[in-house]
Amino acid sequence: MKLLATIIAMLSLGLIAASPAEKAVAPAPGASTPAETAASPAQTTPLAAQLARGKKIYQVQCLTCHQVDGTGVMNMNPPLVKTTYVLGDKSALVKIVLEGMKTPLTIDDYEYHNVMPPHTTMNDQEIADVLTFVRHSFGNKAAAVTAADVKAVRVQDGVK
Ligand code: HEC
Repeated sequence: MKLLATIIAMLSLGLIAASPAEKAVAPAPGASTPAETAASPAQTTPLAAQLARGKKIYQVQCLTCHQVDGTGVMNMNPPLVKTTYVLGDKSALVKIVLEGMKTPLTIDDYEYHNVMPPHTTMNDQEIADVLTFVRHSFGNKAAAVTAADVKAVRVQDGVK
């Protein structure tokens, strides 16, 4: 009886030890560093990284006018919540950021009278990142924008 109890105790200890050991050993073939292993997979997907970068850019380049929740400012700056501009054609959206917008605008029966300035200081990747963030925030759901999408508009419209 005593021997059996000892064996059971050893087995259960072995089992407890087995699972953390497996976890620690598993990433080794990929030769990933401890830092990489510690990050959750969600944080390391290209989209998650793009959204994180885009959020920071939004805070600097867009937030003052379009607000933290994308709802804009009544009569002045339009919302970025499910508008046809945000969810629609990527090229048209890139064009708004690169070249600005000054046509009178009515969204959901409200008029917006401010002018959106062209954003010429951001590179292709930064514009792609901020627009991907906008298209995945404020209740929006639309495909990511790539640096190539931005470059195509720049080339087509001759924007430096
Ligand atoms: C100085 C204030 C200002 C800043 C900064 C600004 N916008 Fe705008 N934005 C506007 C205004 C005003 C309009 C509407 C212009 C018009 O009526 O022609 C507009 C229009 C838009 C539109 C099209 C209309 C809509 O609501 O869907 C989009 C998309 C947009 N902005 C995105 C952005 C993004 C992304 C940034 C940051 C990179 C940004 N804006 C920065 C003021 C601003």
